[in-house]
Amino acid sequence: MTRHVDLRSDTVTQPTPEMREAMARAVVGDDGFGDDPTVRELEERFATLLGKEAAIFVPSGVMANQIALRVLTRPGDVIVAGRHQHVVSFEMGASARNSSVQFALVDDASGELAIEDVMDLIDAATDHQVPVAMVAVENTHMFSGGMVWNHDRLSALAHAMGGRPLHLDGARLFNAAVSSGRTPSELAAPATTVMACLSKGLCAPVGSLLAGPASLMANGRIERKRLGGAMRQVGILAAAGLVALDTMVDRLAQDHARARRLAELLSAAFPESGVDPTTVQTNIVSFNHPQARQIVHELKERGVWGGTVAPRRVRFVTHADVDDDDLDFVADVLSSFTADR
Ligand SMILES: Cc1ncc(COP(=O)(O)O)c(C=O)c1O
Repeated sequence: MTRHVDLRSDTVTQPTPEMREAMARAVVGDDGFGDDPTVRELEERFATLLGKEAAIFVPSGVMANQIALRVLTRPGDVIVAGRHQHVVSFEMGASARNSSVQFALVDDASGELAIEDVMDLIDAATDHQVPVAMVAVENTHMFSGGMVWNHDRLSALAHAMGGRPLHLDGARLFNAAVSSGRTPSELAAPATTVMACLSKGLCAPVGSLLAGPASLMANGRIERKRLGGAMRQVGILAAAGLVALDTMVDRLAQDHARARRLAELLSAAFPESGVDPTTVQTNIVSFNHPQARQIVHELKERGVWGGTVAPRRVRFVTHADVDDDDLDFVADVLSSFTADR
């Protein structure tokens, strides 16, 4: 097979040898009875790390988001969210199907929701519009190119919401922490519930966690069961998750540095795309281009794998299985691609 560099997503990462070792050695039990010590350790570690009372280990980030909505809403409720957030646009309508909720959408091109936009929707209850039950945000925000929320603005939004719950989709919360220099618990503080994925930049093979108040997480365990996400000797996966938290967080800085270099290469190859390497904060480089699908197709033929997240939006993601040598290869491919255009 000819060489390729896979920049489609940080979900393509392989578990590390230390993870495989820990998985083989994991002490396990039936988590349905609460008997798996490795799962309990991971849930407690995560809850503490995020400054929340409790946490639940779940198979995927989507399930963590879906459980959050199930415990925070009732059928018919309205959730304010950004129009490009994962829970809105990338979960196959799961929120409507699982929780019978609807979204009131605001612009999130910058990765953030403007406080005035959210407050307008909340105030619209006075004008006979359906009351807003909660708000959902994403940090880092995938679609905008892994942007990190400004912490003061997120805290201000949480304060302005009149006691309504805030759910934080932190699929890449640890990227946000490394990039901003803030602790995960600082980033989680404004939110009622927070999810984070172990299976993206942190390289665990499977698993996400949802954290929040103990009473909500007790309900969350019931919702996890309803969704078919209660598992048995799942300490085998939690063991890899513990290694992920112990060994893989600080190295995210390397992914961020490589994403900046990748942005420089892409900006040179596609000057019309407006890619600005100085705005890259984490591990995602995304830009609009009229020939997005064509570019992704042609680069793939040459061994550089990326993807589109909308008809005219290209995305490349750096991760632990991409090194500097791989980026040299990407640089060569982009120069020959440009020369042939
Ligand atoms: C921002 C965000 N939230 C949630 C998810 C869902 O995670 P999973 O693929 O583990 O279901 C993703 C996955 O890419 C994501 O990028």
